[in-house]
Amino acid sequence: MSPEVLPPFNPTGWSERELADPYPVYTRYREAAPVHSGLPTEGETAVWYVFTAAETEHVLTSRDYGRDATCGAAQRTAVPSLPDGRPGLRQLVQDWLVFLDPPKHTRLRRILSGEFTPRVVDALRPRIAEITHELLAGMRTKPVTDLVAGFAAPLPLVVIAELLGVPRRHLDWYRTRALALQEASTARTGQCPDAYRRSDTAASELRDYFLDQVRRSRRSDREDLVGLLAAARRSGLFLGDDEIAATCVHLLTAGHETTTNLLSKAVLIMLDRPDVRARLQDHPEEVGTAVDEFIRFDGPVQMISRWAYRDHELAGAHIRQGDKVVLVLGSANRDPGRFHDPDVLDLDRGTGKHCGFGMGIHFCLGAALARAESEIAITALLKKIHEFSRSEDPIIYNQDLVFHGPATLPLRTRTEP
Ligand code: HEM
Repeated sequence: MSPEVLPPFNPTGWSERELADPYPVYTRYREAAPVHSGLPTEGETAVWYVFTAAETEHVLTSRDYGRDATCGAAQRTAVPSLPDGRPGLRQLVQDWLVFLDPPKHTRLRRILSGEFTPRVVDALRPRIAEITHELLAGMRTKPVTDLVAGFAAPLPLVVIAELLGVPRRHLDWYRTRALALQEASTARTGQCPDAYRRSDTAASELRDYFLDQVRRSRRSDREDLVGLLAAARRSGLFLGDDEIAATCVHLLTAGHETTTNLLSKAVLIMLDRPDVRARLQDHPEEVGTAVDEFIRFDGPVQMISRWAYRDHELAGAHIRQGDKVVLVLGSANRDPGRFHDPDVLDLDRGTGKHCGFGMGIHFCLGAALARAESEIAITALLKKIHEFSRSEDPIIYNQDLVFHGPATLPLRTRTEP
């Protein structure tokens, strides 16, 4: 049978049903070919989507790809400012670790990586547990509660904010801007013309906030991440104020929305799969490995991208220098060429490396922190899960396949008789 001829892959305009379960669409594309063309947006020469595990791994570990859109044939797009002259989104994210190539990436990653080792993260566990219990207690006081707003969003946000020295009273302000910042990926599709403007403004406000924190850090020795970055500069590693502020915004953003989505999806699994729930309740020591299977099965980051640095062929696709290549991690993690029965959530899977935290030099800096937060939160939730059930209100998914998860997850709370 000849492979199905499919239209260019388009990650936008999906129905609620497809957003909640994008995997059948991925399967159709993956079965037809490992790599498909997509619809380029402004400033892109061509865009390719990669659906298989081997090709995803190749792109993420090859020097033929990188993060610099200006390298090769792609036209350099001017970094625009806001009408009031303040720098906007592009100027902020160009200093983010995840968008840097070596040697700049190597230098910044070296400074940061010591703060996110499993040993450092272990020391944070008692505080993560405290925040978890505090938030859970707050949720159980209401008859219907939104798990995202009441628990899954604030937990990782409070943790990363404390690491950055952001006071709790500023968190609501921060979260609305972080969400606006994220609208940039949906905005590109033209679905919401004002979204880019909102994310530009949010970027500028967040940068100003952290620039102020950086300036304050000069007047006192701070032990948080702002202090660490400022101290790195004092010890001769050049980091400009803009670079430090951008890194702080990056950590706050990367450090919460991803874990938020993981926790919400884990709760959905525990509500819908009594077998999984019962097994983890009986064997809480297995929650850590279950987290990795949850990420393989339905990861919070479904797509990441790179630019091609030379002309070449990838699984039959003729990729030109300057083309954009999107790795569909959610599909690679369901590739039957890599995982046996990939559409089954299997707590005994054990082997087989998933790419839900990325791969290569950009492998998630916060993986140990995300694992610790999820392990603590899910273990605590398992003890209380009998107090929650799905409410009749629909679950609304974010209109975003990059950071994938429910925007709201309404739950009914069983109050004590
Ligand atoms: C990078 C996923 C939690 C900070 C990445 C990448 C993925 C990812 C897929 C690779 C991006 C790319 O190569 O383009 C996740 C998931 C998380 C999570 C699924 C939660 C379940 C966190 C947390 C932090 C964090 C808690 C907090 C510090 C970062 C940073 C990078 C990154 C800074 C860029 C690393 C680099 O470029 O060297 N993450 N992440 N992430 N993540 Fe995470």
